[in-house]
Amino acid sequence: MKILLTREIPQSGIEALKKEFGESLIIHHGPPMTSDQLKESAKGCDGVLSLLTDKITPDVMDAAGDSLRIISNYAVGFDNVDLTAATERRIIVTNTPGVLTEAVAEHTVALLIAVSRRIVEADKFMRTGKYKYWEPMLFLGPKIYGKTLGIVGLGRIGHHTAKILKNGFDMKVLYYDVRRDDDFEREIKAMYVSLDDLLEKSDFVSIHVPLLPSTHHLMSEREFKKMKPTAILVNTSRGPVIDENALVRALKEKWIEGAGIDVFEFEPNLAEGLAELDNIIVTPHIASATREARIEMARLASQSVVDVLVNKKIPENIVNKEVKPRF
Ligand code: GLV
Ligand code: GLV
Repeated sequence: MKILLTREIPQSGIEALKKEFGESLIIHHGPPMTSDQLKESAKGCDGVLSLLTDKITPDVMDAAGDSLRIISNYAVGFDNVDLTAATERRIIVTNTPGVLTEAVAEHTVALLIAVSRRIVEADKFMRTGKYKYWEPMLFLGPKIYGKTLGIVGLGRIGHHTAKILKNGFDMKVLYYDVRRDDDFEREIKAMYVSLDDLLEKSDFVSIHVPLLPSTHHLMSEREFKKMKPTAILVNTSRGPVIDENALVRALKEKWIEGAGIDVFEFEPNLAEGLAELDNIIVTPHIASATREARIEMARLASQSVVDVLVNKKIPENIVNKEVKPRF
């Protein structure tokens, strides 16, 4: 048996894997592997525990060969794994949903408030000695309470974000998704609208869709132009959902007021001009980075590997349910 862990994850996950697989567990230390390193390390693997920085292409799967039966992705998103290719090769793919819902929603709300109240700009202002006297017009931003929130993509995270902002700030909630959710509408008094309607009416727009061909550049020039000039955009989902060059124009030319962004189209790089803008707060893909979430993600991701390779059962968090597994 050979299990590849592509980076270090919290000990809870490493210990669980060591206990089952002992010396068969190979841990890559250091920065993410290049695709060539990944192919080389995957050779003869039965299981791979990957991170969102690893592109698990058909080439990587073929380099692993017929022994590969599980790709356990340490993330809720799994756009870094070629799902069709995995299913064709009868490889089970899993993710880590549920355990990071609160963490990501909390970071979303943190960005929304920080952009509104200009926390980062104000902090810089203080540190550079610019605060000389109190001013009535210094760092004005919008009130959040009672305003309209637009949730784009109503999965667990979108749902929890809406709940925090409904309960804490009595926001009116609009949402757009490919599916309606009657329970959510009752619970939050949320209204289902088209994406265009949501963009036109919302004071705050928060993106929670997975990255799919249909959500690539979901937010582009046309969409930014529909938003209110006072609107604030938050994205903690996946970078390529936003056309980042269009976002730079939208912020520079004030089509919208501000943005809080945790994920990037060209991650880890920023689109040209973005870093020079004051009306955006950027964080390095840390929305799920609570100690609690990362420990639970490690536990779930390692459990999926054990389920397939030791317990010979379908793991709870399988994402390609149509796969014909090989045990
Ligand atoms: C983080 O981005 C995740 O998908 O878990
Ligand atoms: C992720 O857990 C989601 O469903 O939004």
